[in-house]
Amino acid sequence: MPAPVDLGPAEATRVVTRVLAPLAAQGAIVRRPRMTAWAERHQTDRTARAVLMRLRARHHGAPLALRLGTRRLVVVTEPDDVRRVLDGTPEPFTPATKEKRAALAHFQPEGLLISSAADRARRRPFNEAVLQADQPVHGDAEPMVRAVERAAATLASAIRGTGRLDATTFADTWWQIVLEVTLGPRARADQELVDALGVLRGDANWSYLHPRRRELCRWLHHRIESYATTAEPGSLVAAAHDRDPDTAPGQVPHWLFAFDAAGAATLRALAVVQARPGERDRVLAGAEAEAGGEGPALLPYGRACVLESLRLWPTTLAVLRDSTRPTTWGGRTLPAGTGFAVVSAFFHRDPERLEHADAWAPEAWLDGRNDADWGLVPFSGGPASCPGRNLVLLVASHLLARLAAQDLRTERGEHLARDPLPATVDHLGLRFRLGAPWA
Ligand code: HEM
Repeated sequence: MPAPVDLGPAEATRVVTRVLAPLAAQGAIVRRPRMTAWAERHQTDRTARAVLMRLRARHHGAPLALRLGTRRLVVVTEPDDVRRVLDGTPEPFTPATKEKRAALAHFQPEGLLISSAADRARRRPFNEAVLQADQPVHGDAEPMVRAVERAAATLASAIRGTGRLDATTFADTWWQIVLEVTLGPRARADQELVDALGVLRGDANWSYLHPRRRELCRWLHHRIESYATTAEPGSLVAAAHDRDPDTAPGQVPHWLFAFDAAGAATLRALAVVQARPGERDRVLAGAEAEAGGEGPALLPYGRACVLESLRLWPTTLAVLRDSTRPTTWGGRTLPAGTGFAVVSAFFHRDPERLEHADAWAPEAWLDGRNDADWGLVPFSGGPASCPGRNLVLLVASHLLARLAAQDLRTERGEHLARDPLPATVDHLGLRFRLGAPWA
C-alpha cells in the first residue's frame, strides 16, 4: 500500500476546482436545480474522472493528500484503500465527519450517520432492525407496494391526461410513496412536512455557514412524533415506535431525506429503460415472471436497473470519513482528524477496472461481478453501509416496473438510448412523452 502523497499546489487546485467544488456546488444534502443543470451541461463528472485518473497514474495509486483550509483531506484512488477506510468504520474512520455533523445537524441532530461511537452502538442495530437491512423483501412489503401501486395508478391517469411526465410530477408522486411508507397513509399528502424538510435541507447544504433553525427542526421532530404515537401498522414509524419510542423520531428525518435519492435513481433508470425498447421488455418480463407469487415480488432485474442507475449516476457524490486517531499508510502516519474521501463518480466509471464503465449493464449486478468490487459503493460498504439498501430497491423497483408499463418515451433520449452513457445526467431535467416514437 503506497504512502499518501502531498499534491503540489497546481494539482491540489485541480482537485479542488474540478472534482470537489462541482460536487459541493450541486448541493450535498438537497440538489440545487440550477447547479445540476450546469453540471450536466459541463459533464462535470467526466472532468473529475479524468483529473483523478491522471493523478492516480502519476502517483502510482498513492492516496492524494491536500490541504483544505486547516484540514488535511486524502482522496483515495484504489479499491483497497476504499476497503480499508470503509471497513475501518467507525474506528478509526468515523462517518460522523466534521462537515457531515455540521450539515446534518440542521434537520437530524440525532441521526445515526453523525452519531458518536456510543450512540452508534445503540442506533445502528435499531436502524437495521426497523429497516430490516438483511431482508431483500421487507416484512411490511405488502403495504409498501400497495402505496407504490396507488401512487403509480394516480400518476398513470395524470399522464394519460397530459401526455407527459416531468421530474416535478414524478417527485410529487415519489413523496406520496415515501410519506406513506415511512409515516403511514395519513401522512401521504403532508406537504407541510415536505416543505419544512426542504427548508432545513437547503440550510444543511451550507453546513456550518448557515445558522440553525432550531424551532423548525423541533417542529419537524414533533410532527414525526405525532405520526409515531398514533402509528398505523405497516409503516416504518410504527415499527420504529414499537421497538423504541425514544429513539424512533430522531432517526426518521434521515429516512425521509435519503428516500429522495432513491427517487432520482428511479427516474434516471426509467429514462434509460424508456429510451431502450429491449430494456423495457426485460423489466416488464421480469415483473410478469414474478407476478402471482405469495406477497410482493423481488423483481431482480428492476432492482439491478436501479443499482445500475446509482452506479452510473451516484446520488452520494462522495463517501467521507474522518480518522479518530493517527493512521499509518505505507509507512507514513497521518494525524487524527484527517478527512478521507471516496469520490463515487470516479470509482463507479473507472475504465481501468470496469469493462462496462460507461455502459448500461444491469446484469453485472446479477452475476456477482459488481459485488466483488470495493470501488462500487452506491450504498457505501462496511459496518456503516446503508441499512436502507434493500428497502430502497424494493420500493424503487416496483415503481420502475409500473412506470415501465406506461407507453412513455424519454424526450431527447438519444444520448440514453446507446452506450457510452453521459457522465452527468440532471434528473431534474428529464421529461417523457406518451406514445412518441422510440429514439
Ligand atoms: C438511493 C437511495 C439511497 C442511497 C444511494 C443511500 C446511500 C447511502 C450511503 C452511501 C450511506 C453511507 C453514507 C456515508 O458513509 O457517509 C448511507 C447511510 C445510511 N442510509 Fe442510505 N441511501 C439511500 C436511501 C436510504 C433510505 C431510504 C434509508 C432509510 C429508509 C437509508 C438509511 C440510511 C442510514 C440510517 C444510514 C446511516 C448508516 C450508518 O451511519 O451506519 N438510506 N446511505
